[in-house]
Parts: sequence; C-alpha cells; structure tokens
Amino acid sequence: MKGFILCYSIIIGMVSSSIFKEKTKEDSIEAGKEIYNDFCIQCHLASGEGVSGVFPPLKKSDYLLNNIEKSIAGIKFGLRGEIIVNDEVYNSVMINQGLDNEEIADVMNYILNEWGNSFEKQISTQYVTQIQKTVLE
Ligand code: HEC
Repeated sequence: MKGFILCYSIIIGMVSSSIFKEKTKEDSIEAGKEIYNDFCIQCHLASGEGVSGVFPPLKKSDYLLNNIEKSIAGIKFGLRGEIIVNDEVYNSVMINQGLDNEEIADVMNYILNEWGNSFEKQISTQYVTQIQKTVLE
C-alpha cells in the first residue's frame, strides 16, 4: 500500500509538473516560430511586414508592442474593425486561428522577439488564459 501511494504521488507529481511548468522563453519562441509559419505567415508574411493597407505589419508594429493585451485577445477571439498600425489605418477582419492558450503564448513570444522586435518579459500561458474578449471593446 505504501509503495502504491508513493508510486501514485510520483505519477501525479510528474503529470502536474508537465502541465503547469512553463517553457523557457527560448523554447516558447522556438515553438512560436512553427505556429507562425503554420497559421500567420500567409497574411503577415515571413518578413513580418504584412501587406500595406491589407494585412498590418508585426515587425516594429506600434499596435502590437503597445497593446499586448489587445493583440493577445485579437489572436484568441478574432479582431475586426478599425485599428491604426504605424500610422496606417486598417479596417478589416482577422478570424480567430483556433489556437490554444499555450500556442498563443508561444506565437506572441515569437512575434515580440523577431524582426528586431524585442520584449523583455515572457508571455505565459497563464497570462493568455486570463485575457478576456472585453479588452477589445
Ligand atoms: C487571413 C489573414 C490573417 C491571418 C492568417 C492572421 N492575421 Fe493577424 N491580422 C490580419 C488582419 C486583416 C488584421 C487587422 C484586423 C483589423 O483591421 O481589425 C490583423 C491584425 C493582427 C494583429 C494586430 C495588428 C498588428 O499588426 O500589430 C496582430 C498582433 C496579429 N494580427 C497577429 C497574428 C498572428 C500571431 C497570427 C497567427 C496566429 C495572425 N495574425 C494570423 C490578418 C491575418
């Protein structure tokens, strides 16, 4: 019985640490790059520059770098309506890409640290989880 309980707690410990342990920032960026290439690149392009007037840039985007919560909410719930990115108006729609909270944290860490962008903090899954649609209103 003691052995069983020990075994049981080791398994529970392993499972919970793999669920709750956050990746390092480097690993998150690495995973985010793959997600970007699968889900974002067709509009925002490999250069992160987008297409002027159609798909806004992520490279040096003031919208992204100054509106972390809104950017996350846009990826999580979809984004529509007028936004201004680097002095250019966009009034379009980005549908939600169906990513889970961890994938959104990874892709955010990637786009915040690619193309000369830099963001000191790491976006955690926990942070993405608590972001509500209402930040877009
Ligand atoms: C089908 C094209 C398309 C895809 C795919 C797409 N986006 Fe977008 N994205 C847009 C458009 C269009 C907007 C502007 C929406 C508006 O005008 O309100 C936008 C806006 C944004 C913004 C805020 C504005 C900015 O440029 O800073 C971010 C951040 C963003 N997208 C990130 C992503 C990420 C990350 C992915 C992949 C998970 C992604 N997008 C996939 C078209 C797309």
